[in-house]
Amino acid sequence: MSTRRKSGTGGGVDFQIEGKQATRAIVLHVDRRDRGAPPTSERAVSARLEEAVGLAQAIDLEIVGEIIAPVTAPKPATLLGSGKVEEIAEQVKATEAELVVVNAQLSPIQQRNLETAWGSKVLDRTGLILEIFGRRASTREGTLQVEFAHLEYQKSRLVRSWTHLERQRGGFGFLGGPGESQLEADRRLIQERISRIERQLESVKKTRALHRKGRARVPYPVVALVGYTNAGKSTLFNRLSGAGVLAKDLLFATLDPTMRVIELHHGRKIILSDTVGFISDLPTSLIAAFRATLEEVLSADIILHVRDIAHEDTDAQSEDVNRVLAELGIDDLRRSRIIEVWNKLDLLPPEERAAREAQALRKPGCVLVSAVTGEGLEPLLELVEGRLGAGDTIYEILLGAEDGQGQAWLHERGEVLSRRSHEDGRVLMKVRLASDVAGQAQSRFGSAMKLLGKKKVAAE
Ligand code: GTP
Repeated sequence: MSTRRKSGTGGGVDFQIEGKQATRAIVLHVDRRDRGAPPTSERAVSARLEEAVGLAQAIDLEIVGEIIAPVTAPKPATLLGSGKVEEIAEQVKATEAELVVVNAQLSPIQQRNLETAWGSKVLDRTGLILEIFGRRASTREGTLQVEFAHLEYQKSRLVRSWTHLERQRGGFGFLGGPGESQLEADRRLIQERISRIERQLESVKKTRALHRKGRARVPYPVVALVGYTNAGKSTLFNRLSGAGVLAKDLLFATLDPTMRVIELHHGRKIILSDTVGFISDLPTSLIAAFRATLEEVLSADIILHVRDIAHEDTDAQSEDVNRVLAELGIDDLRRSRIIEVWNKLDLLPPEERAAREAQALRKPGCVLVSAVTGEGLEPLLELVEGRLGAGDTIYEILLGAEDGQGQAWLHERGEVLSRRSHEDGRVLMKVRLASDVAGQAQSRFGSAMKLLGKKKVAAE
């Protein structure tokens, strides 16, 4: 059996058979109803199932069944009760499903037992997300992070399926030294690969930091789009940049940050950066891989938090995003850089739209838009421009006739607002400089530089 997954992303789950149509799969959402906990609403449960189906579709599975299985007392061997396991076995048979996607975390033993009971492959939530990450990762760092997470996942499965592997391979080590079991050899190989990836990741990170440093000299502020998966980030990104980034109704259309330079109305250039979508309950083991894709966000000047305002879970999704941003270290100070973009305005019924409009008016740094119709994009860009100008100051600098380099320096690092040549050949330049650049300019131009004042911040 071989897989259609991209090479180099670590050993994945073999379920995509080459030369065949899409794999037939059943998606099973496990609704954990722990005793004493308030029950999850029916709407929320079906939204969870819908999200899992969306994720499964993102790896081209043909969904032949959708099941919700309530679990009050999780069974160590199978998670689900025996009645439910049997019921699903029948459905697997009836639909000829080759795979069951279980929207829950399964222990390796549970996974194996369920595979035996159902006569099909089983993929749990972590496995599914890893599969998606593996397909979408395009930068070196993203690919390495996914491979790393995959190996860690495999390693844990190896540890716990010890007896199984020992029996299967007769308990002899082929690769290890004397007395070393096959399992230990496997673990050692995986560990070696993990260590190698860790070293590679370090060097990739260093290179990236260098690139960022290089870019810091370019006075283009970074505007990063973040948000829940399917909120419309790629659509907005395309709309704003005219760039041909993949935007389709698949969750995780983007994994690694994608960047474009765009020009705002007053001639100011910004770097627009698209990022991978957030998902609910991201397994902890995948957080590092996910964080690597969000590195750009940390150094962003403005963060556009794109929300699907027409989604029934929009508020819970927004809380998820805010929590992750806080975990990433986007502290209170940086939070003032966040603009909430309430997207999919076109999908709201009139009364709801009016209510949202009133709500947005009361909330500073919040804009209603439709990335599809283009409505609201002008006010959004104005807000971005206003926020960006907040830390800038305008200066007049008188340059000597021979100082062509000085002019080039200012063009490169600031926004030149006007340029006037004097008769004696000297040039008077009016420029807008960010505060850190202004410091460098002071030491370069000294007394030839005169402060004209702060640019007024656009109203929020
Ligand atoms: P991930 O890459 O999975 O994180 O998704 P994303 O946030 O980039 O979402 P994407 O832009 O791919 O949009 C998801 C779906 O929503 C697509 O089918 C879009 O056409 C649709 N969509 C995006 N914006 C709007 C909007 O303003 N109105 C409507 N009606 N649909 C929208």
